[in-house]
Amino acid sequence: MNQSITLLSRPSGKPEISNFKFERESMPVANEGEALLKTRFVSVDPYMRGRMNLSESYIPPFEIDEPIESGIVAEVISSANPAFVAGDFVSGILKWKEYQTSDGKELVKVDANKAPLSAYLGILGMTGLTAYLGLIKIGMPKYGETLVVSGAAGAVGSIVGQIGKILGCKVIGIVGTDEKATLLTQKHGFDDALNYRTNVNLRASIYDMCPEGVDIYFDNVGGEISDAVMYNLNRFARVPLCGAISLYNAPEAGTGPRFEMMMVLKSILVQGFIYHNFSDHIPEALTKLEAWLAAGKMSYTETIIDGFQNLPSAFIDLFEGRNEGKMVVKI
Ligand SMILES: NC(=O)c1ccc[n+]([C@@H]2O[C@H](COP(=O)([O-])OP(=O)(O)OC[C@H]3O[C@@H](n4cnc5c(N)ncnc54)[C@H](OP(=O)(O)O)[C@@H]3O)[C@@H](O)[C@H]2O)c1
Repeated sequence: MNQSITLLSRPSGKPEISNFKFERESMPVANEGEALLKTRFVSVDPYMRGRMNLSESYIPPFEIDEPIESGIVAEVISSANPAFVAGDFVSGILKWKEYQTSDGKELVKVDANKAPLSAYLGILGMTGLTAYLGLIKIGMPKYGETLVVSGAAGAVGSIVGQIGKILGCKVIGIVGTDEKATLLTQKHGFDDALNYRTNVNLRASIYDMCPEGVDIYFDNVGGEISDAVMYNLNRFARVPLCGAISLYNAPEAGTGPRFEMMMVLKSILVQGFIYHNFSDHIPEALTKLEAWLAAGKMSYTETIIDGFQNLPSAFIDLFEGRNEGKMVVKI
């Protein structure tokens, strides 16, 4: 029998295991033009929380009683599609199923000899592209500038900071544990990191760490953490708005300080983005990321959870900060 995980109900607040349902079904068979895929690694991502809501977005919501889907690396088990042979590895947005068939239209082949398969869901996948494209195209970093990253020990944030260092910026990370702060400074070369959970005055601490002011704020979390950084922005600062995880489970967004006048007076650029806004630049981004990785200028951290049955809990754990670097589930 095959296993799949469907959406049983839409969460209100933080997602719970009871929002998901495990189902058994017969094994799929590849018809003409299709390949039979075995799921090997599954990406769990904060943006999926938005797809659990019935609201309009850049991507449609998950349907009740339909399988959840996310970035997956799968192995081709058999193929009735001339583009694939058994033993190929592919990546794409696929369903939370142990086995499934695909016509291959949205899949890209990945090379297990070039990088570990899980890396195609992280630094060489959506995560790396988001970090590179958001920072380069909106952050426009220049040598000697100061970059602050929130959600800095996560999948996107840890890559953003390292790119900032390669380009000659001073880089400060904001994270939720002291262990994550150490990971950033010891392994990933950040200049310093702040624990927002234990810090009593984030705004003042950022000022102390960045007396020259902040030129780029790469925002993964939104909310009060971002408010604290915004007060420290320099003239002509750039703010790539990548995500707002601190607000994803909030019933209402709440209110905060008004920054409009400050943004006018300081000529600050604040721009939300989805990485595929810059799809023309994906080849350039992958070339750079692969080269930096091969040259040992970058490294990556992964939290790898074992087992199909642990997919929902791995996803939920993102909202508890239980991951360092990219959270993936190995099947
Ligand atoms: N725009 C795009 O194209 C795009 C693409 C990918 C991801 N994103 C967004 O980028 C952000 C990071 O994604 P990711 O995949 O790299 O996830 P991630 O950072 O690897 O994992 C989520 C992290 O967020 C932090 N967090 C959770 N709840 C929080 C809260 N209430 N306040 C502050 N921090 C909280 C936790 O770290 P701590 O322990 O440090 O709190 C957790 O480890 C998310 O907002 C995501 O939606 C956007």
